[in-house]
Order: sequence, then C-alpha cells, then structure tokens
Amino acid sequence: MVKKKVETARVPVGIPGFDKLVEGGLKRGSVNMLAGSAGSGKTIFAIQFLLEGIMNHKEPGIYITFEEHKEKIYEDMIVFGWDLAKLEKEGMFMFLEYSPEQVKKVITEGGGMIDTLIEKSKAKRIVIDSVTSFALLYQDELAKKEAALALFEMLNKWDVTALLTAQERHIDQDFLESNVEFEVDSIIAMYHVKIRGLRRRAIEILKMRGTHIPNKTYAMHITQKGIVVDPNEVVVF
Ligand SMILES: Nc1ncnc2c1ncn2[C@@H]1O[C@H](COP(=O)(O)OP(=O)(O)OP(=O)(O)O)[C@@H](O)[C@H]1O
Ligand SMILES: [Mg+2]
Repeated sequence: MVKKKVETARVPVGIPGFDKLVEGGLKRGSVNMLAGSAGSGKTIFAIQFLLEGIMNHKEPGIYITFEEHKEKIYEDMIVFGWDLAKLEKEGMFMFLEYSPEQVKKVITEGGGMIDTLIEKSKAKRIVIDSVTSFALLYQDELAKKEAALALFEMLNKWDVTALLTAQERHIDQDFLESNVEFEVDSIIAMYHVKIRGLRRRAIEILKMRGTHIPNKTYAMHITQKGIVVDPNEVVVF
C-alpha cells in the first residue's frame, strides 16, 4: 500500500523561541492576528514570518500594506540583514502598496489582481499590515463586517497562511469583542510596557484554535537579527 505523504500541519514562524510555544507554528491555511501598540514590533514580526517561508521552506511571500512605503520598509529591514529588494528580484517576495480604493476594489472583485499574482508566484504566506486602517475604510458596522467576511473568503480561497496586524494600544476584552468581524484562528499580542520605570517588550498568545497554548507572557527582544522570544523569561505586569 502506498502511504500518502501527510503535509505538515504547522507553518513555522521562524522567530527564535516562538514556534515551540504553539506546537511548532501557525496552522497551515489559518488566518492569524498580530495585535500590539505602535512600535511594538508587528511589522518586524510579520516580515520575519515571510522570510522564514522564503529562506527555509521555499514558500514565496506577499506583504500587502496601504500605510507603509516600500523604500522605507526595505531600508528599515536592511538593519537586520534582510535584503527584501533582492528577494523581490528573485520572485520570492512581493510588496504590494495599495491605496484604500484599490483594497476596496480587490475585495469587491473577490481577489482581482492579487488572485493572478498568487497563482503566478505560488505564494504560500501572506501579510496584511495592517487591518486597522482597512477597518477604517468602512464607516458603518454592517459594511465593515461584510468587507471583513469577503476578505476572509479570499484568504481561504488562496490557500495561504495569513498574518494580519492590528494596531491596538489596549488588548483587553473590549478589543477582543470589538474585533469579532475578524474571525481569526489565532490572536497574538505584542506588548511594549513600562514596568517600574523601564519599558519591556513581551508577547502572549491569546488564542489559537486547535492548539495548546501557554498561559504566560514571555519576554521578547528586538536584536540585530530581528525578534527573539525568550520562553524562559516570563514577564509580569
Ligand atoms: N535594529 C534594531 N534594534 C533594536 N530595536 C529596533 C531595531 N529596529 C527597530 N527597532 C525597534 O522596533 C520598533 C519598531 O518595530 P515595528 O516597526 O515592527 O513596530 P510596529 O508594531 O509595526 O509599529 P507601527 O504600529 O508603528 O507600525 C522601533 O520602535 C524600535 O524600537
Ligand atoms: Mg508596523
């Protein structure tokens, strides 16, 4: 009998210390939310997730934003030794800088030009940085909800593992409830908090469907090589 090769169900994020906290990584094909205050490290985390795919799993990645400028992100990431321009030339990394109108158009069309790009590039990981400004495009709650649902349908259709960032100062019950339109499979919170006069970075997995998650908040550092999580250092605040 020929044994069917079982595809690994986990997609490693590649951030040192992180994957073993969540049974090896994000679930393949899942939609994940990374929430944190301004400057908490969301963009660096998201780029690291794409680079892990490109460098270690031959999975091309797409970064979609309508807040950040390509030149600026490329310049910021060079500090960590990440040459996104080179990976772009090699067809492994795609940076899509969209205006709010273009995003709306893509959603109305159910994929449009991104469909074609994903098919051509065979991208397996996708980042939307951030969905906060995406939500601001829609004033009324119903329209927002419909657009979020359409976005989710698209992500599922594309058969990618998605990471959506959300800018959020206070990650509390209110935040969790106000974001129900984003029916995500996981929520990861990043903190940059002042504890007894010193700012500390920390990370917590708030939910991850089908995964045993730790109940602790771990120290996180931004080093010359990017983000590192220290699973041995618990942060209390
Ligand atoms: N080379 C570096 N070494 C250490 N820390 C760095 C380095 N580069 C950036 N940082 C830190 O990372 C922070 C920015 O991280 P990042 O851009 O990922 O945050 P963000 O959550 O995406 O912020 P925003 O909400 O503004 O988009 C900076 O505020 C800075 O403190
Ligand atoms: Mg950012």
